[in-house]
Amino acid sequence: MNARAQVRTISIPTSTPLSTIAVDVREGLSRKPKSLPPKLLYDAQGSALFEQITCLPEYYPTRTEAAILTNHADEICSRLGRNVSVGELGAGTATKTRILLRSLLRRQFHINYFPLDVSDAALQLAKDEVERELTAVNVHPQVGDFEDLTFLGMQAPPRLVLYIGSSIGNLEHNDAVSLLRNIARHLSSGDQILLGVDLVKDSSVMHAAYNDSAGITASFNKNLLVRINRELGGHFEPDAFCHVSFWNEAASRIELHLESTCLQSVRVDGLDTTLRFYQGERIHTENSYKYTVECLEELLESGGFEVEHIWTDPDCWFAVSLGVIT
Ligand code: AVJ
Repeated sequence: MNARAQVRTISIPTSTPLSTIAVDVREGLSRKPKSLPPKLLYDAQGSALFEQITCLPEYYPTRTEAAILTNHADEICSRLGRNVSVGELGAGTATKTRILLRSLLRRQFHINYFPLDVSDAALQLAKDEVERELTAVNVHPQVGDFEDLTFLGMQAPPRLVLYIGSSIGNLEHNDAVSLLRNIARHLSSGDQILLGVDLVKDSSVMHAAYNDSAGITASFNKNLLVRINRELGGHFEPDAFCHVSFWNEAASRIELHLESTCLQSVRVDGLDTTLRFYQGERIHTENSYKYTVECLEELLESGGFEVEHIWTDPDCWFAVSLGVIT
């Protein structure tokens, strides 16, 4: 079948429905300890702050992964199927993806690229930037979270799924395995996944990456409260919370929290509720799991993929892995 024939264009809604964040926020903040799902960090402002994080001197993951992709682009592409269509989970602004697309266009004339992200603002940037630089790439943005992955199966095979940027690090091990299995369910034999994960390293390096001296990560974390204020009529005072992030060795993860600096009550009109915080109480906003190469292999295999190759940087700070459905 002609690769273009299967493509459907899906238009980008201007914003995610309010009810989605209301349900997540009510649920998370009524837990003990309180928590919020990390996907809520990525409204337009949060996505812009994350872009700033990726440029911070302390934040090594983005530039390390970009270096791996740049240095091994030819070898990665030579291991891909012929005339792949490309889907991407959590594409963001697709800056790193362009490294791969550029190199892939030396092997195929045309690419259908399906980036999925929760941020329509980021996706719009991705589409503009990719189509401006690479005219042989057709971008079909998909707004949403990872619950519905049917768009993957609608692409013409052979398919390449990109899940780079170590976003899988947000997930608990079981959820990471389930997500990979869910991806695999929409794929067929020969389809591949390129998965990027951050590796366990000296804890001072990891700590600095999530406690930058410019305070951008703190703003990124607190933006969650700003978002609740705007979208749910919340009355959070963001500066009555502080950014707390540390390496949890036993769980092999960096944790992000917002810690209440005082005893306080916060009204959220849209939820018709008043939340109470004791001094020092935390809202757990994100986990960023760090893997070993062995755990990464185990993860791909449990997820239904056979490991084809793993590339790392010279310091072994980050890994890009290629898995295939057999
Ligand atoms: C987008 C999930 C890969 O875990 O490093 C960066 C998010 N949070 N700084 C990460 C993040 C704080 C990032 N991921």
